[in-house]
Amino acid sequence: MPDTYRPAPFEPVKVPLHETPLGLLQSWRAARENVINLIPGAATRDKILSGHTGTRWHMVMDPAALKEVLLDRLDDYPKSKVTKALLSPAIGDSLFIAEGKQWRWQRRTAAPVFSHRNISALTPIMSRAADRTVDRIAAAGPRAIDLSGEMVTTTFDVIADVCFSGDAAFDAASVHAAIDDYIADAGKISLLDVLGAPDWLPRPGRIRSTQSLNQMKRAADTMIAARAARADGEVSDLLDLLKAGEDPKSGRQMTTEELRDNLLAFVVAGHETTALALSWALYLLAHHPDIQEQARDEIIATCTGDSVTGDNAANLPLTRAIIDEALRLYPPAAVVSRTAQKPDTLLGADIRPGDTVMIPIYAIHRHQALWENPDNFDPGRFADRKAIRRYSYLPFGDGPRICIGAAFALTEAVIILATLLRRYRFTPIKGKDPEPVMILTLRPQGGVWLEAERV
Ligand code: HEM
Repeated sequence: MPDTYRPAPFEPVKVPLHETPLGLLQSWRAARENVINLIPGAATRDKILSGHTGTRWHMVMDPAALKEVLLDRLDDYPKSKVTKALLSPAIGDSLFIAEGKQWRWQRRTAAPVFSHRNISALTPIMSRAADRTVDRIAAAGPRAIDLSGEMVTTTFDVIADVCFSGDAAFDAASVHAAIDDYIADAGKISLLDVLGAPDWLPRPGRIRSTQSLNQMKRAADTMIAARAARADGEVSDLLDLLKAGEDPKSGRQMTTEELRDNLLAFVVAGHETTALALSWALYLLAHHPDIQEQARDEIIATCTGDSVTGDNAANLPLTRAIIDEALRLYPPAAVVSRTAQKPDTLLGADIRPGDTVMIPIYAIHRHQALWENPDNFDPGRFADRKAIRRYSYLPFGDGPRICIGAAFALTEAVIILATLLRRYRFTPIKGKDPEPVMILTLRPQGGVWLEAERV
């Protein structure tokens, strides 16, 4: 066959990063479309970029400088004012946004909740939610399905169950609706705020979802009160574990309000992010039937019971590498930010107190000096994890503030992906590729529409 008849190698969808600097109004227009459009193409080539749009800002892409921000000088680079303003209405001064002492004691108290032993004990909940997804797909019959919607349902099922063990007092549907409303509203806040654009410049959206938030908090409070009235039960869900937890240093335990804020932080931080990892993984696999088939072989050889278990998940290296690679190409938390507290010099850039320091994880994961063929899907990169340079792969952040739910999320994602691949072969629908758009998290706009054929 002549060369010209070969199908073009598949390149996964990506965000068109701009090559010429944008002015303030242009930035505003770009951000209206897609917040991530504000990242310049140079962020995939340079080590640091600095600018001035209302506030002074820096984007850091160099592993050594990232280590300085995320580890060595943790207290000098707390989470940005914008992150706090955005999330505190929903999750108070919880672990996710607290700083200094207030963060340290909550982290010490919550860390054992996410131990390997506790996560293993929660895996049957993940397996059951995955099995229910297979049933839903079967019930839908042979037609195109938006797998991204399915994944949001599945991961919410998991997080609601592990936080509140499916307690009758917990109104999952209303909490889910409230969180979706809040994220949709809050998500419209743009990176312009991170960049510190002046207040007179219209924003794509402002947080208006007070009602949804109150509803969500009330549902969690009812749950916590119901639990206090219940005799010590046999189930140990995250609420039980966190309630029983105490700071190993001071012996302090969480108040009802602190419990509520932290549980809601787990729900907000943990459900959509994991759903996105799965949605993007399915999109990538649908376009790579060869890799999908290899993964299926691995899964069928390893998982011999009715459901995919937590033990199985620990023995599926290719399935896990597919999740890792999906998180590289489409990191759900595509940009995180800090506000500098002290003068510093990073790679020659003059950092002043009040400057915004952005960590554009999306661009770091596609950086030309850090990755070979950065835009290609290649789970083989994760065959030897030690070969991956520290601070160049940051889907969960790094340093002491690394995602506390990372191991939980990875176990869950592998169980769900393996359950789906074991039962279904996924193929793309022509002309229906999603577009990566950042609304708080990096979502597949338009959905991940695939055909699911019973294996
Ligand atoms: C694939 C799924 C997930 C991704 C990509 C993700 C990503 C992240 C990232 C990037 C951070 C650090 C943010 C920063 O440094 O500014 C973070 C922190 C955090 N995540 Fe996750 N996350 C995921 C799942 C989860 C789950 C399942 C939970 C809880 C059940 C969770 C709870 C948290 C909490 C509480 C923090 C704050 C930790 C601290 O500051 O000490 N996340 N996550």
